[in-house]
Amino acid sequence: MQYIIKNIQDWNEIIKKIKKFIKPNNFLFLSGELGTGKTAFTKLLLKSFGVENNVTSPSFVILNTYFANGLTINHMDAYRLNFNEDMALYDELFDSSFNIIEWPDNVVINNANPKNTIKMKITLSEDNEIRIVNIESTDFEIF
Ligand SMILES: Nc1ncnc2c1ncn2[C@@H]1O[C@H](COP(=O)(O)OP(=O)(O)OP(=O)(O)O)[C@@H](O)[C@H]1O
Ligand SMILES: [Mg+2]
Repeated sequence: MQYIIKNIQDWNEIIKKIKKFIKPNNFLFLSGELGTGKTAFTKLLLKSFGVENNVTSPSFVILNTYFANGLTINHMDAYRLNFNEDMALYDELFDSSFNIIEWPDNVVINNANPKNTIKMKITLSEDNEIRIVNIESTDFEIF
């Protein structure tokens, strides 16, 4: 599924759909080059789900955790991690939470599988005016 995002409001359609997927042990993989809007999108998604804290980029802390609607939500930035990273600690955290992962290709997420994972890729157009968002999902009731 492909969406064209011209301004920040255009994310609302995707957010509305992804909210149905915010459940324990589900994953949202966000890929795309630096500055394409992975964190900006996460902020909007979490705000609309009821997260009241200010959502910040987890680039320096690797993982931020939020609570809303009785659910724990992890937001990971794996930019500085790599395949050698020992993920055991994270796997334990992911187990009972909804997990948003930026730069998912850098790491091995053991709990993630095609059924519990939506993959979203953001590509900025050459003139930086629009974002092309490609979404891969096996949950056909959502996408
Ligand atoms: N329609 C839009 N969607 C998302 N971000 C937008 C949009 N329009 C402008 N922006 C701006 O683009 C920037 C995207 O930066 P952001 O930190 O979200 O990127 P990122 O993909 O998380 O990068 P990184 O890989 O470094 O973590 C933000 O400053 C955001 O405000
Ligand atoms: Mg980011």
